[in-house]
Amino acid sequence: MKKSVLFVLACVMLMSGCRKKAETTDDRKMNSFINELMAKMTIDEKIGQLNLIVSGYNVSGPVMATDYEKLIREGKAGNVLDAFGADYVKSLQKMAVEESRLHIPMLFGHDVIHGHRTIFPINLAQACSWDLDAIEKSDRIAATEATAEGINWVYSPMVDIARDPRWGRVMEGAGEDTWLGCKIAAARVRGFQGKNLADNNTVMACVKHFAAYGAPQAGRDYNTVDMSMRSLLEWYLPPYKAAIDAGAGSVMTSFNEIAGVPSSSNHWLLTDLLRNEWGFRGFVVSDYTSIWELLQHGVAADSADAGRLALNAGLDMDMEGKIYLDHAKELIKSGKVSENTIDAYVREILEAKYKLGLFDDPYRYCDSRREATSVMTPEAIAFARWFAAKSMVLLKNSGNILPLNPDIKCIAVIGPLGDSKRDMLGGWSSAGDWRKCVTLLEGIRSKAGNKIKVTYTKGCEITGSATDGFNEAVTAAIKADIVILALGESADMTGEASSRAEINLPGVQSKLADAIISTGRPTAVVLFNGRPLTVPEIDQKAGAILEAWFGGTETGNAAADILFGDVNPSGKITMTFPRSVGQVPIFYNCKNTGRPISPANPREKFKSNYLDCPNTPLYPFGYGLSYTTFSYSDVRLDKKNYTGADNIVASTDVTNTGNRDGEEIVQLYIRDMVGDVTRPVKELKGFSKVMLKKGEKKTVIFNINPSDLSYYHQDMSFTWDKGDFRVFIGPNSSEGKSADFTIE
Ligand code: BGC
Repeated sequence: MKKSVLFVLACVMLMSGCRKKAETTDDRKMNSFINELMAKMTIDEKIGQLNLIVSGYNVSGPVMATDYEKLIREGKAGNVLDAFGADYVKSLQKMAVEESRLHIPMLFGHDVIHGHRTIFPINLAQACSWDLDAIEKSDRIAATEATAEGINWVYSPMVDIARDPRWGRVMEGAGEDTWLGCKIAAARVRGFQGKNLADNNTVMACVKHFAAYGAPQAGRDYNTVDMSMRSLLEWYLPPYKAAIDAGAGSVMTSFNEIAGVPSSSNHWLLTDLLRNEWGFRGFVVSDYTSIWELLQHGVAADSADAGRLALNAGLDMDMEGKIYLDHAKELIKSGKVSENTIDAYVREILEAKYKLGLFDDPYRYCDSRREATSVMTPEAIAFARWFAAKSMVLLKNSGNILPLNPDIKCIAVIGPLGDSKRDMLGGWSSAGDWRKCVTLLEGIRSKAGNKIKVTYTKGCEITGSATDGFNEAVTAAIKADIVILALGESADMTGEASSRAEINLPGVQSKLADAIISTGRPTAVVLFNGRPLTVPEIDQKAGAILEAWFGGTETGNAAADILFGDVNPSGKITMTFPRSVGQVPIFYNCKNTGRPISPANPREKFKSNYLDCPNTPLYPFGYGLSYTTFSYSDVRLDKKNYTGADNIVASTDVTNTGNRDGEEIVQLYIRDMVGDVTRPVKELKGFSKVMLKKGEKKTVIFNINPSDLSYYHQDMSFTWDKGDFRVFIGPNSSEGKSADFTIE
């Protein structure tokens, strides 16, 4: 690995040209301030800056352990995790700024993942909106709320590419596609960091989990990651790079190893690649106790050794491991870590504090007046509702049973997720208040008013085997004109440490669906979940399926907007839904293999297929329906043959052929027909979200540059091929029209 790594490094350094940014007047000012400060710091105070301690909670609210308060006053805890609330943060900041010797303010970091107080849809759902402006705006609002409560640093964006829905953390990312993942990563950084980090409503972003945390073997959280250097460079690393290029101020290491080296001790990753090659100038923080975990990984003999490895690898800050606190000094004394290394890290952390404006005003993020007025504003709530509806995906709608017929008299809402406030926010919404969120039943009731009777029956729990609620549910179904069946996972079935070996509907929910659907009442299933599920039986039997994900604070209103037809659904999934967990990992941009199946004879022996399951997914990447329909013309290219200097202009006419206005996410994929190494059967290279009035036709134009078709060749050079290509434009990764071109 080492040789190829060095080779890649050499290539990319040549390509990017070793850059050193010219020093600006502001930099000079900052540098001289930090030089002066560092000259006064003792070694203990320096190590303190590399230490991130956690704040706890008790019944009366957030609290800091007394021994930690002591560390703050001694200048040995430069940063705090999980403290928020303007007054509380101010009280801790005061300890650092008014009681420690050098008055250095602290960073206050928190997991602001899909909103802070106003909770937006889970990140995977947001990605399904394909709306980069909305994603950016949601993080802008989240930053505004978080900064009003003392937070100046967020552990976001999570940009891990994931192709395995068993892994519970797929809910935090953008899905399986690298190209789209890069765009979303950059949008999120812009949203959090705004134009100026020192503004009182912007926070420093922390891109995570570096690197390839989304590819644990068997989809089990924290498990080993092992992949080719080509896959790492081509599929997994680009979104981190995109976030860094967008200016992300910090990076968090991942828990996993890559090719035998845990990220928190990976010099190649944290120094050669991140800093030397990509030019990252911020700081790196470990994940929660991940330095200590180097012992469990079996690469460190004891905690001091773990500290030595992490410090020498390029890891600036220790999250709640106390390894640096306990051992950095002795490591310097024994010469195992140089003081220059520590100085470089201290400088990077102080620079972050400087850029956030904390030395000018350490309390700029703790404004209780702003906290009272700028959190969960009516505008934020309205946006959360709009965004949640844009993130939901209509997976099936046979016989157009949705939107609901205005003449219906009675709706039966049935299912364990129908009125479950606690689940609607989804994972990673720690500051969100589930009591303030709207359930599906509440959303439907508030639309139905007095005109339509709405009943609710739970039917069964999310998990467990009890079926004694079925009879009541069936009776309710029989009495109704239509059933809205709310099924799925509980919020804590995705997120950290929430891998599943089976990704079907838990408990007896499928049986409940059978019982309800066999009544013959039209049934629309609304799914609440944080990962793609294997639900072929629901797909077969239910009239309609709306993938609502966990939509955040306004989930129920947003779902009702779609069910009643006030919003025409436009979301498209960014992660493939398998038919069976045995197909996992399943993703659209796979390779053709030497023995691809022929669509006409998919079960042919000695071809790459299964004996017991088709190769095709239940729903492909990019798929989603609307209440209207769209037709695509043939793909037009401005030329047949291009040179490397040309832009390739591909276009199509998209027509709204249905009966209502609607938005369509038009997708462009490319296949390099003959590569130096095997290339995917399709790669997303563009999309356009177009609004079309009923009957309206629009021409959608894409511009592709040959350099957009670059990939790592056998010699690891990153370049594009001359030769034949196929471009596909269509409504998802499985359908569409194509045209061929050649680059000469
Ligand atoms: C998670 C991170 C998170 C950190 C701090 C860890 O367990 O992996 O994503 O930022 O905790 O809460």
